[in-house]
Formats: sequence, structure tokens, C-alpha cells
Amino acid sequence: MESYLTEFGNLLLRWLHVIAAIAWIGESIYFVMLDNSLTKPNEEKDSRYDLIGEMSSVHGGGFYHNQKYLTHPPFPLDEKLHWSFWKSYTTWLSGFALFCLLYLSNASVYLVNPASPWAWAAVLTPGEAGVAALALLIVGWLLYDELCRRISPEMQRDGLLSIAVAILMSGVAYFSSHVFQGRAAFLLTGAVMATCMSANVFFWIIPGQRRMVKALNSGEQPNPLDGKRGKQRSVHNTYFTLPVVFLMISNHYAFAYSNETSWFIMTLFILSGALIRQYFVLRHQGQNMLTLPAASGILLFVIGMIAAPTDIKTVPTETRSSNSNDNKSLPATSNNIHMVSRILQERCVSCHSARPTQVGFSAAPAGILLDNDQDIQRHHIKIKQVVASKYMPLANLTKMSDEERLQISQWAP
Ligand code: HEC
Repeated sequence: MESYLTEFGNLLLRWLHVIAAIAWIGESIYFVMLDNSLTKPNEEKDSRYDLIGEMSSVHGGGFYHNQKYLTHPPFPLDEKLHWSFWKSYTTWLSGFALFCLLYLSNASVYLVNPASPWAWAAVLTPGEAGVAALALLIVGWLLYDELCRRISPEMQRDGLLSIAVAILMSGVAYFSSHVFQGRAAFLLTGAVMATCMSANVFFWIIPGQRRMVKALNSGEQPNPLDGKRGKQRSVHNTYFTLPVVFLMISNHYAFAYSNETSWFIMTLFILSGALIRQYFVLRHQGQNMLTLPAASGILLFVIGMIAAPTDIKTVPTETRSSNSNDNKSLPATSNNIHMVSRILQERCVSCHSARPTQVGFSAAPAGILLDNDQDIQRHHIKIKQVVASKYMPLANLTKMSDEERLQISQWAP
């Protein structure tokens, strides 16, 4: 009953999270497009106002005409002014709640990584792993914010800053993939970026805008730095979006996160998402730099090569199965589904069956049943991969031995 309630809560929170994220990202992408599509007005406008550009568009059966003013708009800034922040906060809050419900409440299964190459990380208790995950979110934001303040406080070195931020996020990917389980590492790296995005809105963009509105309403000159700084952070947010969306859906792709070089795969995904975003930013300014999606495509190809399961990388499928019986290093049972099924029965079926006996599971995880030979055959590539990378059994709760892993890796279905 309890695990069913958790599952149902998971469903509701995820639904909310995805809807809020779509609304937030959609609006953010719209405003970045608008900003980059603005053109100087043709005729001379009233010089009391600082109109910097305008855009006409057609949508929803009507015509729109947007104008952007930096500090002196010709209209009153009253309660009708549309603000954008709740979508961002709702996305972060629902995402954080989901993280607590799924990962923190079950840290021994999802966070702790007993196979970590760092000795101290391999022996973390579930509580310590949870604290480490929360600390990563906070420290990630503090470091990012410090980089922005130090490197480009007046937006004078934004190019250098973006390189520094990319290196920082790659460091976060490296750290998290060494300390936590692969799936959690991807999610946490995405969560660090998403936290920076929402914190940018909360600590910089909205307070700056509030100061500007207050100054204008009391007849004072707003500080233009507030506007520029808000713009800098919102530009960062736009480059974070595509990588974050990938990292959030990555839990469906064990081949990416249960890989030894998963931090590098994450870094390449972050770069490739940012490159695609850059293409669209420039495109709205009227440039069509096809080298950007091409470079992104090359990165994705490299990811595909690195993440491919080892048996795909080394031996073609036909030669592998026909040679496997001649190979002296293989045990005589390497073709034997019963041997595999016996191991899986002991180490996997407590979770991977229609009625799992493992505490906290109410249905077969990832929809994968491993209690019958047909399904085992069907999933053989994934099984070999998750066993070889030690991603499964989760946190090695069922204590699979290296000998058993070797037997599965040598099984030629
Ligand atoms: C403690 C429970 C547990 C045990 C034991 C366990 N698994 Fe899993 N397994 C999960 C969960 C939860 C998921 C879904 C998480 C995910 O997608 O990363 C999963 C996902 C998978 C997937 C799908 C990965 C993908 O690409 O989506 C495979 C394959 C798998 N397990 C195989 C195994 C094998 C083989 C064993 C035994 C050697 C095993 N599991 C033992 C809980 C478990």
C-alpha cells in the first residue's frame, strides 16, 4: 500500500513538474526568440522613451506588435504588468519534491554507489549520500554565482564566463558520476543546472526587475546594470535548457549513465545541447550557421560510439555467437540460458517480477521482467550491459558476485 501511494505521488508530482517545466521553458524560449528578432523601428520614435527594437508577428488568428524598452517605457508599470516567475519556481519546487520522494527517501537503492572508484564514496551511508546530494545542489549554485560575479560582473567578459561555466558543469558531472549511481548522477547534474536557472530568476532577474519598476514608479532613473545583469542570467538559462531537458529524461537510457565514462558523455551532451540552442539564437538574429548543428551532430555521434555496449564495439554479432563455443576461456555453459536464469532468479527477480518482494517496489522496475526465459532472451543486450557496468542489481542489494557477472558477460544467447 505504502509503495503504491509513493508511486501515485510520484505520478502526480511528475505530471506537475513536466507541465510547469514546459510552461517555463516555452515562455523563456519565446522571449529569447523575441529579443533576438527585434529590429530597429523604421521611423523616428519619441526620443523620451528608449525603444530598442520591435517585432511584428501573426499567431492565434491575429497580429501582434511587440516593442522593447530598456528603462523608459511609455506606459504605466502597474499591476497589469506581466511577470514571469511562478512557472520557474513551480518547476524547481515540484522537481525537488520528486527528488526527495524518489531518491532521498530510498537513498540506499538509488543514490549510494558501492561500486564508486572513490573509496570514501563507496562506503557512504544512505543519510550521508542524501546530504552529499543536497550539498551538491547548493555548492553548485554558489560556485556558479561566484564565477558570474568575479569573471563578468559588468557583462564585460561574458565569453570567458561561459567557458568557465561549461568547465564547472563538467566538474559537477565528474563529481556526481563518481559519488552517486549513474542514474542519480545524471539527474543531479541536471538538477544543479536547473537550480542555477531557478536561482537566477529568484536572486537576480526578479529582484533586479523589481528595483527597476520601483525606481520608475517613483520617478527615478533605474540602474541599467540591473537590466543587463538580468539579461546575462537569462541568457545563461537559455543555454542550460536543452542540456537540462536531456539530463532529466536520461533515466530511460541506461547505456548512457551506466557507462564508465558517463561524466564525459554528460559533458558532451551538455555541449551539444548548448550548440543547438546557439544555432536557434543566431537564427532568430537572421544568421543560419549550419556548422553549429553539424558540430552538435558530430558530438552526438561520438557519444553514440563511446556509449555503445562493449560487445557491439568489439565483435560483430554473427562471429561472436559462432566463435563462442571454440573460445577456451569461456565456461562450457556459456550458451546456457538455465545458468543465466538461475543467477537472475537469485539476484534480480526480487525486483524484476510482476510482484516484487523487495521493499519499496510495487511493479517490475522499468517494466522489465526477468523471471522467465523468453523475457531474459529478449532483454539479453541490456542485461549484459547493466550487469557488466555494475549498474544492476541496484546498489548491489542482492549481492551479485564478480564470478556471476563474468558468467553473464560470457553468455552467448
Ligand atoms: C533492488 C531492486 C533491483 C534489483 C535487485 C535489480 N534491479 Fe534492475 N532495475 C531496478 C530499477 C528500479 C530499475 C529502473 C531504474 C532505471 O531505469 O535506471 C531497473 C532497471 C533495469 C533495467 C533497465 C535499464 C534501462 O535501460 O532502462 C535492466 C535491464 C535491469 N534493471 C536489469 C537487472 C538485472 C539483470 C538485475 C540482476 C542482475 C537487476 N536488474 C536487479 C531495480 C532492480
